[in-house]
Parts: sequence; C-alpha cells; structure tokens
Amino acid sequence: MQSRPQTPQGKCLRAIAAAVALLLTVPTSRAQQPGSDDAAQQAFNNSCRTCHSVKEGDNRLGPNLNKIVGRKAGALPNYNYSSSMKEAGFVWDQDKLTRFMLKPDEVVSGNKMQPYGGVSAEEAGKIVAYLQAASQ
Ligand code: HEC
Repeated sequence: MQSRPQTPQGKCLRAIAAAVALLLTVPTSRAQQPGSDDAAQQAFNNSCRTCHSVKEGDNRLGPNLNKIVGRKAGALPNYNYSSSMKEAGFVWDQDKLTRFMLKPDEVVSGNKMQPYGGVSAEEAGKIVAYLQAASQ
C-alpha cells in the first residue's frame, strides 16, 4: 500500500525526526515555572478567559475582573448579574476568590457562573495572584 517502501530503521529515524521537529515548534512551556507571572496568566487563560477579561469595562459572558480584589461582589453597573450575585453583600478578597473558584456555590449560592469547569487549589492561588497583578 505504501508508495515508498521503507525499512523499519528508516521508519524509526523518521519518527525521531518528527519528534524533534515537534519539540522545536512547541514554545518552551511557560506553565512549568510555578509561581511565575507567566504560569499565573496561563492558568487564568486556561480556566477563566473564555468568559472573563481583566480589562475595565470589558464584560463578556461573565463580568470583567478588573480590580476584582477589593471590589464589591455583583457590583458592576453594566453587567446583568444573577440576583444571588447582586445580593451577595461582600467584598472580594483573596480568600473569597480562591474559595469561589474551588466551590462557587458555597460562596455565592445560586450564582450563574456556568458552565464552569473548576480549577485545582494550586491553580486558584496562581489565578488570584494574576488577577491582582493584572489590575494594577
Ligand atoms: C463559562 C463561563 C465562565 C468561566 C469559565 C468563568 N466564569 Fe466567572 N463568572 C461567569 C458568570 C456568568 C458570572 C456572573 C455570575 C452571576 O451573576 O451569578 C461570573 C462571575 C464571576 C465573579 C464575580 C464577579 C463580580 O463582579 O462580583 C468572579 C470573581 C469570577 N466569576 C471569577 C472567575 C474566575 C477566577 C474564573 C476562572 C477560574 C472564572 N470566573 C471562570 C462566567 C464564567
């Protein structure tokens, strides 16, 4: 069936060459530096950016998260929050944000942050750091 018959050795070399080429094209993985800004941004991009921007006024499916640490929950005037979020009645701090990422319903019962896949505790920590850094 093959147009160019190959020896098993030739196939093996080609496989190695393909693997090397692949390695060269993949940018050095940023997520491998725990705690670095890049890793934090990556975690945000992976888990939140589909729905959230950190730019002021830039609401998407979710409200923008500009200066979210220290911002009152459900308080943006131009975003249509669920009534649970509007009436949450607290100010986001690092602890609240981390817990919201891990278990949204335990922090604001009845919120409409759906369909949100969740993050690990480690990622949540990175994302809070990113949100703070991105809002300065
Ligand atoms: C599938 C879309 C989606 C994803 C993914 C998502 N969110 Fe949300 N988020 C929403 C929606 C929608 C709301 C509004 C919830 C409401 O009104 O009850 C929201 C609300 C919030 C709020 C409250 C904002 C405010 O003004 O009080 C925070 C904080 C938040 N999200 C953080 C995050 C973080 C951090 C991530 C990533 C770990 C994330 N979200 C991932 C859709 C999403």
